[in-house]
Amino acid sequence: MSTAAAPAAPSRPAPPGAATRRLWRHARLATFAGAQPWGWIEDGALVIEGARIAWVGADGDLPAGTHAAAEEVDLQGALVTPGLVDAHTHLVYGGDRAGEFEQRLQGASYEEIARAGGGIRSTVAATRAASDDALFAGAARRARALMAEGVTTIEVKSGYGLAEEHEARCLAAARRLARELPVCIRTTSLAAHALPPEYAGRPDEYIDTAVTWLAGQRSRGLVDAVDAFCDTIGFTPAQTERVFAEAKRLGLPVKLHAEQLSDQDGAALAARFGALSCDHLEHLSPRGIAAMKESGTVAMLLPGAFYFLRETKLPPVAALREAGVPMAIATDHNPGSSPALSLVLMLNMACTLFRLTPEEAWRGVTVHAARALGLADRGTLEAGQRADFAVWDAEHPREIAYRFGHNPCRRRVFGGDEDPAVTSIVRP
Ligand code: NIG
Ligand code: FE
Repeated sequence: MSTAAAPAAPSRPAPPGAATRRLWRHARLATFAGAQPWGWIEDGALVIEGARIAWVGADGDLPAGTHAAAEEVDLQGALVTPGLVDAHTHLVYGGDRAGEFEQRLQGASYEEIARAGGGIRSTVAATRAASDDALFAGAARRARALMAEGVTTIEVKSGYGLAEEHEARCLAAARRLARELPVCIRTTSLAAHALPPEYAGRPDEYIDTAVTWLAGQRSRGLVDAVDAFCDTIGFTPAQTERVFAEAKRLGLPVKLHAEQLSDQDGAALAARFGALSCDHLEHLSPRGIAAMKESGTVAMLLPGAFYFLRETKLPPVAALREAGVPMAIATDHNPGSSPALSLVLMLNMACTLFRLTPEEAWRGVTVHAARALGLADRGTLEAGQRADFAVWDAEHPREIAYRFGHNPCRRRVFGGDEDPAVTSIVRP
């Protein structure tokens, strides 16, 4: 079916004075709430008051009186899902790594390039050289691309500044995105991403210095969480633990790039600190899975990086499923290992590469992604939740996971307000 013809403007305007109440009717709703698969409601309605969902249910059960007060949109059977949450990105950086892509095609490995001073460190040089406005403009273009596919919340990490001033500039650029675009941004400090050249051979000194930046980032309102890269080309578990200890002292939640290229037992370490998520996890051990289950840590799977680095070791999806560890999916957008700007494509990759079911993949970009950010007010369509949702040219979300290389998002609503930039996209 095509719902592209669904009216772009409300079919009946609100009476004066009742402008913040909106009624979206005759939608196929995937709420991801309740016990039903998909939280499915076949002919559903949403009542939105201001930035919140006031009521969700079957259209025929709409509370009496709702119709009279509401501005009304008839969705003619179009699919509505929660707004998508991209809970792991490195959106703020300068330059690109297309040359490194060519090097890898000629046989150099990601680790070899990193050890030779390229990789993350080449992006660090380009990031430091970029102006605040250039950093913001690049990140804004990338955020817009994600938003065009129904993304309403984006986590953005620092990690390409690797000096106090530059880390702060990157976090500030991320905060500016939320001021200038209709999107929610959560920021994560990732100073423990790579060793900057001025600390070559002195990783412990770098970590001791980098942890002192966190208090200032926190007091300036620049940071919501703290991350580290615990791996052979990143930092050791002992160094990671020092970062986490300072985060804990400051009351900031932690997460970890864990077991991406090797098993460092990072997931168990992060779980001891009650991590919100452990991310990548291709080399995750049964011990790590048990620790994550115990601490309620989300497993953040990143099929874009797996694909682009041509990894062969799969994350232990069946064991995570068996253990009941919630799985989330994100783009991991970054210039080196995942220059992907489509969370919709990640749905397909999560199914095809990692063998998630379409419903698991969808929960991974909605309810579980929200949990990976510690956000309980989004990721499902339920009364009381933020009114962040997307309208799709599809009858069922499995269709969206099945196709790839397309954008079926037709309308995007953020905090109750329709995003005109998405509604007005001209389609073939
Ligand atoms: O999530 N693993 C470490 N960090 C990024 C890659 C960073 C880069 O190569 O620039 C990741 O894959
Ligand atoms: Fe990452």
